[in-house]
Amino acid sequence: MSTPTHGLARYAADLPAVDRFVTLGEGGTPVIALDRLASRLGLGRLSAKLETANPTGSYKDRVAAMTVSLARHQGYRGWVATSSGNAGLAMAAFGTRAGLPGFLCVVSTAPQEKRVPLVPYGIGVVAVDGVGDGASATSGTGLMAHVAAAAERHGLFLAITANAHNPLGMRGIDTLGYELAEQVPDMTHAYAPTGGGGLAASLARGLATRSQQAAVVVCQPLGCAPIARHLAGELDQPVVGGCDTLISGLQLPAPPDGQLAVDAVRASGGWGTAVDDAAILRAQQLLATAEGVFVEPAAATSLAALLDDHERGRLRGDDHPVLILTGAGWKDQSRFAAPAARIPTAQVDDVPQAIADWARHV
Ligand SMILES: Cc1ncc(COP(=O)(O)O)c(C=O)c1O
Repeated sequence: MSTPTHGLARYAADLPAVDRFVTLGEGGTPVIALDRLASRLGLGRLSAKLETANPTGSYKDRVAAMTVSLARHQGYRGWVATSSGNAGLAMAAFGTRAGLPGFLCVVSTAPQEKRVPLVPYGIGVVAVDGVGDGASATSGTGLMAHVAAAAERHGLFLAITANAHNPLGMRGIDTLGYELAEQVPDMTHAYAPTGGGGLAASLARGLATRSQQAAVVVCQPLGCAPIARHLAGELDQPVVGGCDTLISGLQLPAPPDGQLAVDAVRASGGWGTAVDDAAILRAQQLLATAEGVFVEPAAATSLAALLDDHERGRLRGDDHPVLILTGAGWKDQSRFAAPAARIPTAQVDDVPQAIADWARHV
């Protein structure tokens, strides 16, 4: 058989040992050039890593694949996790693939599009209030503590997607760094949307393992930017008292991998950039209209941060930044529901006129 281009097994030599990797074809995601945006910004090169192309539409498939492979290998009877939606869906899919039952505590304010696809897998789910929108520093850590204790009590693999809780499973995300080192050897900056800090820390670890020198930039919404603000010297600790952002996936005031991310980002020569929700939603729209790439708002935080850095003169014309586009647009589309409802209807014979009206304006 030829070397597989998808699946964590390709990197088995660098990952925790398991007898078999459970796979749905994760990883091996494409890198594309964002030439229109690059020329608008006066950058020689700008690229995007399309983690949206993973089987459940987010980079969390990498950690889910590693996690369930470990859980099977170690003889666990199931898994338990917390999630804002993406990790939960990835765990539901890969857990089912592995034949392992699972229980998920999903943020109750998670977008409908992240909760609906959980249903076909038949996993146990509870929607938890007080985390996500308006989260406090203690609610998230309290939930994770409950879940960790329950994992112990019931003999379940603790599948929270943070190095602090699931260090071996998170090694699956290192493969993102391995792939980037192969795909974009001249990458100067990796822009990582950041909530709990696990992605930034694991990506930096993967790049360092391959001696890839890119600076990892932590990208956070201003309303919940403990890691970015600590890196900027504004906070003593990477923790804030509460969360005031609607960007699903990035609402962690007390990020479990905060210090790990800070240390890894500093070692890479990177920094943190915080941008407000409006800038993130504008970046989401810009990515769609300028490049044809539709991502969820959390993923667009990378472009919003890059635009902010560019305006502040933090990037040079010969840099080659890469946006980590962590999640697909279909995962959080409520802001497009109203415009979609306004799409006009037409009778069959009115269609030529509708096209003619449109064609006059393009
Ligand atoms: C789409 C998306 N991007 C980025 C992140 C942030 O990852 P981390 O919490 O590891 O910092 C998440 C986390 O859920 C996410 O769902």
